[in-house]
Amino acid sequence: MFKKNIFKNNNVVVTGGAGGIGSATCELFLNYSANVYLVDKDKEKIKKIKKKLKHPKLQTFNLDITSEKDVKNFYTKIANKKLNVHHLINNAGVATLNLCKDLSVKEWDLVMNVNLKGMFLMTKHAIPLFKKGSSILNISSQAARRAQKFTAHYNASKMGVIGFTRALALELAPDVRVNAISPGTIGTDMINNEINWRIKHGWDKSKYDVEKDWLDRIPLGRYQMPDNIAKAIVAVCSNQFSETTGETINVSGGAVME
Ligand SMILES: NC(=O)c1ccc[n+]([C@@H]2O[C@H](COP(=O)([O-])OP(=O)(O)OC[C@H]3O[C@@H](n4cnc5c(N)ncnc54)[C@H](O)[C@@H]3O)[C@@H](O)[C@H]2O)c1
Repeated sequence: MFKKNIFKNNNVVVTGGAGGIGSATCELFLNYSANVYLVDKDKEKIKKIKKKLKHPKLQTFNLDITSEKDVKNFYTKIANKKLNVHHLINNAGVATLNLCKDLSVKEWDLVMNVNLKGMFLMTKHAIPLFKKGSSILNISSQAARRAQKFTAHYNASKMGVIGFTRALALELAPDVRVNAISPGTIGTDMINNEINWRIKHGWDKSKYDVEKDWLDRIPLGRYQMPDNIAKAIVAVCSNQFSETTGETINVSGGAVME
């Protein structure tokens, strides 16, 4: 897609970097010669992905992005090496499923903390390390723009991602661009959880029923895969998108068109 070295000497921070979309994003940035700082809370997943990618330009950091202490420690390590952050990919996110009447405050707080507070903390403490031409890419979701049952809290958090993106685009212009990508239904662990939950709670009879419901609403007729989202992230961070800021781009096979 691009020249091999377009991100050479660029430091790219990817939160949730050990997950489905995050690891595909780390891999693609590495392929384009970036120095990648993978941030994730899950030690085991980090170990696996480190082994799989086995790349000299990959550094991994085990931290919880909802902890300001963890986040500050992480950026202090970068600042101590006198490095800049060229691109910050706020990808870490969690989803649970429940009807609003059954949703616990604990569940609400978990989703808001990771999807919004974590993004805020990772952004706030990166700002002093940005330079002219840096960018932030936040991961929202089709759930922000298309209502669905069982995920009112998740939908609200992902709408929040879009609001945060727009406000930050104003605050950081003209030096730093801030955009979001809204993935549709992506083949990762996250959708398996939803399939299992819907069957367990009697909303659908089988995996086939859940998948039919989803696929019927995707004009391209297929799920998108983590590397499709990674390609979009890399593209929006590149100079090819130098005139785009405050935008949210759908990568949903047409499921969302606004
Ligand atoms: N999979 C989908 O269908 C889909 C659709 C739309 C949007 N998204 C969004 O894409 C992003 C990535 O999702 P995914 O499907 O790759 O999920 P995933 O579960 O595979 O990856 C998420 C990663 O975030 C990490 N994480 C969670 N809480 C954390 C914390 N407090 N601190 C640090 N790391 C933490 C997890 O350990 C995990 O590795 C999320 O923001 C998600 O909401 C996913």
